[in-house]
Amino acid sequence: MFNIALPKGRLAEKVCSLLAKIGFDTSGINDDNRKLVFVDEKNGVSYFLVKPSDVAIYVEYGAADVGVVGKDILLEYKPDVYELLDLNIGKCRVAVAAKNDFRENKERPLRVATKFVNIAEEYYSSLNREIEIIRLNGSIELAPILNMSDVIVDLVETGTTLKENNMSVIAEIVPISARLIANKSSYKFKTVAIDSLKEKLAEVIA
Ligand code: PRP
Repeated sequence: MFNIALPKGRLAEKVCSLLAKIGFDTSGINDDNRKLVFVDEKNGVSYFLVKPSDVAIYVEYGAADVGVVGKDILLEYKPDVYELLDLNIGKCRVAVAAKNDFRENKERPLRVATKFVNIAEEYYSSLNREIEIIRLNGSIELAPILNMSDVIVDLVETGTTLKENNMSVIAEIVPISARLIANKSSYKFKTVAIDSLKEKLAEVIA
């Protein structure tokens, strides 16, 4: 029996359809009810649906043996887990974006609104650019619109949110996709089951 932590939201459906392709029963899983644990008796698997940024925490603490998480979360929080496989879904990028008429003033620190504080700090430190971080949890695009920040560091998928708010990407930081991760001690004790899951997933995404 093993536990899988899955991300709620836009990745959920894609992950469930991958799991269904390898014969796992994900039919009970959906965002529409308040149920938190789903059991697939036939395959001996329990699924937990949690916030994308919490998946790695459940896996790191061993509450889940494996999980699916965006590379952005792994880069930002550096959880102590094994990254087993690039699932090739949830593709997007972390980028710097600004209003279309933005002109940088190099005389003062750049005000950066983001939920990816560590990724932003590492990026600007590699450029030797002094910044002031404004930490937000969502709707990051609002910050430059309200002149609270100069730029944002955020996920860009289709680019629609930026376009609809008269903003554009000014620099790409890193490409992102969903990854299969495993708890380190679960991997030691359930190597066969976890490797088999990894191999089956690798086959269907190939
Ligand atoms: C994410 C991200 C952008 C948007 C990008 O936000 O923070 O706002 O999606 O997607 P797009 O390029 O396809 O428009 P999300 O919808 O997850 O919500 P949030 O703003 O509350 O973080």
